[in-house]
Amino acid sequence: MLVSAKDMLNKAKAGKYAVGQFNINNLEWTKAVLLTAQELNSPVILGVSEGAGKYMTGFKTVASMVKAMIEELNITVPVALHLDHGTYEGCYKCIEAGFSSIMFDGSHYPIAENVEKTKELVKVCAEKGMSLEAEVGSIGGEEDGVVGMGECADPNECKMIADLGVTMLAAGIGNIHGKYPENWAGLSFETLDAIQKLTGDMPLVLHGGTGIPEDMIKKAISLGVAKINVNTECQLSFAAATRKYVEEGKDLQGKGFDPRKLLNPGFEAIKATVKEKMELFGSVGRA
Ligand code: 13P
Repeated sequence: MLVSAKDMLNKAKAGKYAVGQFNINNLEWTKAVLLTAQELNSPVILGVSEGAGKYMTGFKTVASMVKAMIEELNITVPVALHLDHGTYEGCYKCIEAGFSSIMFDGSHYPIAENVEKTKELVKVCAEKGMSLEAEVGSIGGEEDGVVGMGECADPNECKMIADLGVTMLAAGIGNIHGKYPENWAGLSFETLDAIQKLTGDMPLVLHGGTGIPEDMIKKAISLGVAKINVNTECQLSFAAATRKYVEEGKDLQGKGFDPRKLLNPGFEAIKATVKEKMELFGSVGRA
C-alpha cells in the first residue's frame, strides 16, 4: 500500500521505534526491500536520490515500477516512496511523478531561504496528502553528488523549520553518509536532546545509518529519532555477495551467467541487511 510517511512516523515516534528508509537503485533493490517489509510486517520507506532516479531513467519510471510492484507482489504493509535529499526542482518533479513523500534539502541555503522554500512545499504537500522532510545543519560526506560538511544543526533553527508544519525533520548531529572514519567523534546526543526538547512530537530523521553502532542507534531512538536512512550498507552487502559468486566461478557453471542467477546472491544479501536493520530499529510487526 503506497502511503505518505506521516502516520507511520507519528506512530513510530509515539511507540519509540524507528522506520527504516532504504535507498533503491533498481528492480532487485526495490523487490528485496518490499518483500522483506512484507515478511516482517513492517512499515517501510523507499528512498530515491536524484542520482538514483536519473539512473532508473526518471522519477516516473520509479513511481510506476514501485506502484506496480506493490500490486503484483501483494504488498499490504505501508510503503512510502520518498525523494532523498531533493533539490527544489527535484521535489516538484517527484510530486508530479506520483511519489508519496519528498525531502527538500534546503540545508545549504541561508536559513531564511530554507524557511521560505520549505514553507511553500509544506502547502503543496498538504494539498496532495504527501509527507515532507526538511533538513537543518548538514550530513557529512557525500551521497550521489550531495556533499555536506557535517555541521551540527542549530536547535533554534530546527524549531523554526518544524513550526512550518513539516512531517519530519533531518538534523545534522555529527552523522555522515557512507562509511564512518576511524576517528569519528560519534553522534552528538547533546544536540539531539536539545532539538527534541524544542520540537516536541516532531519525528526526527537520522541520515547516514550505515555503520552507526547499535547502542547509538538505540539511544538516538530514545531521543526522538523515528526514521533512519540506510543506503551504503545495502550496497556493500550486494557487492560482497556478488563478488563471492563470481570469485567462486559460479557464473561459469551451467547457466550461472543468467542475470536472474547472477544477481540473486546480492538480492538475498540486501534482504538480510534490511531484516537486520528492521529488527534493530524495532519496526518489525508494526505495520
Ligand atoms: P548511508 O549511505 O550512510 O547509509 O546514508 C544513507 C542516507 O542517509 C540517505 O539519505
